[in-house]
Amino acid sequence: MRESSLELILLGPPGAGKGTQSKLLEVRYGVAQISTGDMLRAEVKAGSPIGLEAKRVMDVGGLVSDQLIIRMIGERIAKPDCAHGFILDGFPRTVPQAEALDKLLHETKVDLDAVIELKVDEVVLVERISGRFTCAKCGAGYHDRFKQPKQPGVCDVCGGTEFIRRPDDRAETVHARLEAYRAQTAPIMPYYAAKNRLYSVDGMAEMDEVEAQIEAVLRRVGVQAP
Ligand code: AP5
Repeated sequence: MRESSLELILLGPPGAGKGTQSKLLEVRYGVAQISTGDMLRAEVKAGSPIGLEAKRVMDVGGLVSDQLIIRMIGERIAKPDCAHGFILDGFPRTVPQAEALDKLLHETKVDLDAVIELKVDEVVLVERISGRFTCAKCGAGYHDRFKQPKQPGVCDVCGGTEFIRRPDDRAETVHARLEAYRAQTAPIMPYYAAKNRLYSVDGMAEMDEVEAQIEAVLRRVGVQAP
């Protein structure tokens, strides 16, 4: 078994639990969690040219250009905190992005351990997304029904009392995001299946059960938590 190194992709539609699980795995395996959605939202918040370009697309539930995303990921995985690996959440999202990642990994002689798809029914996805909110101060994630703060109105992690909801979590945008997933992201599955890297877990299960299923896949491919 190999310790302290993990190169993992979490795939799945909006609301499947990629962010939730990748944050848990980041703590458990001690490798960087990289969310292209979070990176884009940081650019939007900063009002940068990338942020302005991305916001137009994100607000209507489309996908930001491959060129921009690939450049962003190339710079991100070259950072020192990725020396022992990474968990990719929300990338790749198109076949050209998957091909560009292969090229980047090949150049750095790194192999993917696994691509894990979180399978969740669409009706459940809409419920998950529409009930989601995060702490405005530390970004900890919650849900109206599935994960409320222990003390109502107070963040479990930092004690913050302000919470926010994502603008792209409105019902009409969620449907456009699901359509983008079906049309542009789902074709990645056969791409990774052909490389014998694709595994599926039941994303409908309780959060800790989903985490256990992911860890079982990682043990199967020879990765052990430190
Ligand atoms: P991004 O931020 O990546 O959003 P997404 O893929 O739509 O995924 P979400 O963050 O909505 O869901 P998630 O799977 O992380 O679920 P979560 O854990 O939060 O992308 C946003 C936008 O940025 C895109 O639409 C696009 O425009 C752009 N973008 C990003 N990357 C791009 C790329 N590579 N290329 C082009 N454009 C890109 O869970 C959801 C809720 O459910 C939470 O409240 C959680 O508490 C709850 N929950 C989680 N797991 C469970 C469970 N097992 N049981 C019950 N509840 C659960």
